[in-house]
Amino acid sequence: MTIQTVNTVPFAGQRPGTSGLRKKVAEFQQPGYLENFVQAIFDTFPDIAGQTLVVGGDGRYFNREAIQTILRMAAANSVGRVLVGQGGILSTPALSCIVRKHGAFGGIVLSASHNPGGPHGDFGIKYNIGNGGPAPERITEAIFTNTEHLTAWRISDEGPVDLDRIGTSRIEGMEVAVVDAVADYAELMQQLFDFGAIRALFASGFRMCFDGMSAVSGPYARTIIEGMLGAPAGTVINGTPLEDFGGHHPDPNPFNAAELIALMDAPDAPDFGAASDGDGDRNMIVGRGVAVTPSDSLAIIAANAHVAPGYRAGIKGIARSMPTSTAADRVAQALGVPCYETPTGWKYFGNLMDAGLVTLCGEESYGTGSDHIREKDGVWAVLFWLNLIAASGKPVDTIVREHWARFGRNYYSRHDYEAVDALEADAMMVQLRAGAGSLAGTRLGSYTVDYADDFVYTDPVDQSLAQKQGIRIVMTDGSRIVLRLSGTGTEGATIRLYLERYEADPSRHGIPTQEALAELASIAGHLAGIGQRTGRDRPTVIT
Ligand code: G6P
Ligand code: ZN
Repeated sequence: MTIQTVNTVPFAGQRPGTSGLRKKVAEFQQPGYLENFVQAIFDTFPDIAGQTLVVGGDGRYFNREAIQTILRMAAANSVGRVLVGQGGILSTPALSCIVRKHGAFGGIVLSASHNPGGPHGDFGIKYNIGNGGPAPERITEAIFTNTEHLTAWRISDEGPVDLDRIGTSRIEGMEVAVVDAVADYAELMQQLFDFGAIRALFASGFRMCFDGMSAVSGPYARTIIEGMLGAPAGTVINGTPLEDFGGHHPDPNPFNAAELIALMDAPDAPDFGAASDGDGDRNMIVGRGVAVTPSDSLAIIAANAHVAPGYRAGIKGIARSMPTSTAADRVAQALGVPCYETPTGWKYFGNLMDAGLVTLCGEESYGTGSDHIREKDGVWAVLFWLNLIAASGKPVDTIVREHWARFGRNYYSRHDYEAVDALEADAMMVQLRAGAGSLAGTRLGSYTVDYADDFVYTDPVDQSLAQKQGIRIVMTDGSRIVLRLSGTGTEGATIRLYLERYEADPSRHGIPTQEALAELASIAGHLAGIGQRTGRDRPTVIT
């Protein structure tokens, strides 16, 4: 029954990246490391007393321990009430849904998303604001500033709370409500999609494989897809969240979900394949023999939004991150709605959705979502595709091919150079930035540069400015080379090279992607000096 004030000194490097503070578990386990950051969050909000927060994570190693600490610190900082997912589990989209539904002040997500988990893996913590979305930069910067000046943190000695039993308890004067992790989210999905049509699809023998990657989305997919939609038991594989994700890398792309890709390439492949990441906000959509790029998925969802009851009235606009292909722009143009280009990071979509400027958002990094919440949403994307397949009666590959025939194909690929020397990577960006201005009009192989710059974004709602968001080299035919450094890695630097080539002619839509992009890749490699700077002759991962 006592609240302790523990003196501390700042830890260096607690600046949140693209998506919260992500570090190795060992770093988080240093005495006071988590506590310092959590106190810095509470100190950012002088009006937190008496408010409601939502707390939950993706179930990775250190999740439960971190939640108990956060609860005891929330009580010591006079928070009124905390809603926690049962077992400490909440997918990132479910947390966003609960924050909005219960009018909470904000939420704390414990996750390092798609980064590997376990004692030697990564951990992360992210603050979400009252709209259910990631805190904007002015707030993450304020949190960071607080971490630099912190002298003490406060904690109650009560607890621990039984996270596995649904019900309410108290720490000091604060109420802790352990809630069903899936119920509110499942109810929202039911309002958006035609569950009757999808149920009929499964009843007709349609076969699907959803790979939960031993991460958080398994329970959501089981309840909704196998439970409410009647898909046969076993449709969801790797459906139990494990602290180390079964040793897998829970990032749904053709590289990390190779098992699912192989299954979808086999002669007896199911009709539809999907996967989600560590915290359930990413998705991968796979048809028989075809993995849909996230950029195409966004464009196809936009072009067909009206098939889902929640979007029948049409969409207000689309937003995509700058490196995401321009396939969605073509759909927006055809629909007569705006398409916004934002920096990488879901947080940049929040203002646009709050202001009613866009309905759909997407990123090349396997993130798609809508204004139903303020996070990207893996299960939502899968349900949209199920709704589309049910409504159109067409398989994934036909839907994709017909989309290309109508709008043209944006060949697209991302080449990642992981864990490279951070100084070299920074030097590469400095050099590219300096050279970008003089590239316009230059001939590069068979391409001519239309313009090149270091992407700057002015938020149309609050006019906030984000600079140095990545080098864009845009060719006169709309093809693009984009280079930026990842903001989510925890080892050295990761160079991301994004390649895009537009092809209108349907007779040229069947070229293997890497072949179609080979010339652009080689131009980019030379311009940036990737080989010399990294000592690598090929990317670590190609998606
Ligand atoms: C997280 C964020 C996304 C972002 C992605 C890639 O998933 O939520 O918004 O697109 O990371 O970020 P990175 O900086 O590693 O390219
Ligand atoms: Zn994620």
